[in-house]
Amino acid sequence: MNPEVRALFPGAGGRVYLDTSARGLMPDPVREAIEAHVRVRQYEGGDKEKLWSIVEATRKGFAKLINADPDEVAITKNVSEGLNLFGASLPWQAGDNVVVCPELEHPNNIYLWYNLAKLHGIEVRTVGADAGALSVEAMSAAMDERTRLVTLPTISFAPGFISDTAGVVAAARRVGALTLVDAAQSIGAIDTDVRALGVDALAVAAQKCMMADYGSGFLYIRREVADGLVPIHVARYGIDLDGAHETAFSEGELKYKSGALRFDLGNYNYLGMAGAGAAIKLLNDWGMVAVESHLRGLAARLADGFLELGLPVAGGAPGPHLAHIVSVGKSGGGRHYSADDPAMNSLRGFLTTEGVHHSIRSGVLRFSVGVFNDDRDVGRALEVAGRWVASSVPLGEPR
Ligand SMILES: Cc1ncc(COP(=O)(O)O)c(C=O)c1O
Repeated sequence: MNPEVRALFPGAGGRVYLDTSARGLMPDPVREAIEAHVRVRQYEGGDKEKLWSIVEATRKGFAKLINADPDEVAITKNVSEGLNLFGASLPWQAGDNVVVCPELEHPNNIYLWYNLAKLHGIEVRTVGADAGALSVEAMSAAMDERTRLVTLPTISFAPGFISDTAGVVAAARRVGALTLVDAAQSIGAIDTDVRALGVDALAVAAQKCMMADYGSGFLYIRREVADGLVPIHVARYGIDLDGAHETAFSEGELKYKSGALRFDLGNYNYLGMAGAGAAIKLLNDWGMVAVESHLRGLAARLADGFLELGLPVAGGAPGPHLAHIVSVGKSGGGRHYSADDPAMNSLRGFLTTEGVHHSIRSGVLRFSVGVFNDDRDVGRALEVAGRWVASSVPLGEPR
């Protein structure tokens, strides 16, 4: 990306921020859109038609970003709300099953399935990962004619590899199952075309690579699927009353709005939508092909550099698995504050002291790049890691 992009992010200077997978930095246009909304609320109260127009512009922008139609997008507040709305609205029957790989999932895409098992007597079929990667073979082997849904992360939160989503979708289709993806880590990082991927539903929130704030999310549902669903929760915005006032109520059969719009509930997080709209506009203007290529290039250089220093990069040399997340250490633990390996904890402490901001997830040091990062950030992170390697006990020896 050109230097003007970095200039939009006042938080990008003065330290090395490699933690977009936890939460991204917010660019100036997002702050300005949020401030403009607050000003309107403070001084004018706000006009409902105008507030709705912000939401609809944001919905349209998001639909464009993933190559969907606006009425295939419901407005949510986070990933788990999207996953729950879709998951709980499927016509489950006792004995149906859902296939999931818990090792690669955020807990927000695990708990709900056990909850639905309790409510409907469904079976949660868990599948192991293959050295940190989602295994299409293992997922496929777990599916049968009672599989109603297969769920997966498009990019895992740790170690952060890109899943073969299209491969899983093809396998799910063979048994007549639907697919639901947790795209928390991929939207805003890699170019996503829901039609090409063939997923039935996708949930995301705006605070990571989408560069906006918490409390604003989106649920995509393919129209043919959404039109056949009875939403688990419903409110006025999900009901089609031919443009009648928002407080109108009409007795009789429920007429849901078309597609995913039936999943909209009551009033929106207008402030969040104002910010998300500004962020999505930037992503659409830059183009996701350019954004993805920038992020993958930086991540590959970071991974190569760590490998040259002898550090254990998850997944090894950069390849098709690598998006914007580079993990160092042995994956698989449940820890988010420290790694199993004392050497990794020592490296983490050193990097943190030197201003290289990153996370620990599932026992690995997780570095994730954003659009504002450039080669100086990668160079600085490698220089600090290199000093740690040079000054520390050789890797693998007791500390
Ligand atoms: C893969 C993944 N799913 C879900 C979440 C969070 O879910 P929610 O937006 O519901 O808090 C995160 C990170 O916070 C994540 O990395």
